Amino acid sequence: MLIRRVTLSPRLAATASLVVGGGNIVDVGTDHAYLPAHLILSKKIPFAIASDVRQSPLDNARDTVIKYKLQNKVELRLSDGLKEIKPEEVSEIVFAGMGGTLIAEKLKECSWVKSKKHHFIFQPQSKAEDLREYLYSNGFYINKELAVSEGERYYITFDAYYTAEIKPFTQSDCFIGKLPKTVEAKAHLKMQLNRLEKKYNALKQREENVKELEILINDLKGFIYG
Ligand SMILES: C[S@@+](CC[C@H](N)C(=O)[O-])C[C@H]1O[C@@H](n2cnc3c(N)ncnc32)[C@H](O)[C@@H]1O
Repeated sequence: MLIRRVTLSPRLAATASLVVGGGNIVDVGTDHAYLPAHLILSKKIPFAIASDVRQSPLDNARDTVIKYKLQNKVELRLSDGLKEIKPEEVSEIVFAGMGGTLIAEKLKECSWVKSKKHHFIFQPQSKAEDLREYLYSNGFYINKELAVSEGERYYITFDAYYTAEIKPFTQSDCFIGKLPKTVEAKAHLKMQLNRLEKKYNALKQREENVKELEILINDLKGFIYG
């Protein structure tokens, strides 16, 4: 029997909810290609490029494409970040399940990424602050953020547009972004706070300057407990 729906995990469902739809997407680092398959089967998008830097994830993606008979609607493509993607091929760009530092690197490497014609959706697995820092310092506007729980973990996802406008921002903005004050967002930031408090104690023991870190820790506490 042909199954015509892909049910996504809460993390990928939140990411998919940020896709505007109507145009083609590229899912960078697709692995299993669940996200593009879901978006096509739910008729949100007509076509997707499912790309990955390695062949074995693309083999996983091929299994999904065959299972759901999406051979005409999903193109599998080997690509390091956006290197093999042409800007006119897609209107939305998804990076999910990769570290924020790596996503920022891949954006930096792409010559056409500062584009007002494209919509970006990110789901950084770690170091979201590095990705937000890249976005804020390069004229991107973060539109909406979501936080969800899945198993024992908390995940965040957000979308962005390039506006060319660069506004001043703080380290706390990079950690908090536009997260809503939900239980899940607070739990996500509590993890960051624990990590930063360990760093703070280590620096303090070595009598190093902790002033900036102190401000960040207080801002995170304000968000979580305020
Ligand atoms: C943890 S999986 C995430 C899969 C899926 N996007 C998700 O969120 O469930 C990360 C994927 O990113 C791919 N990846 C890592 N570096 C990449 C790069 N430079 N360009 C494209 N894909 C990359 C890996 O091969 C892997 O398949």
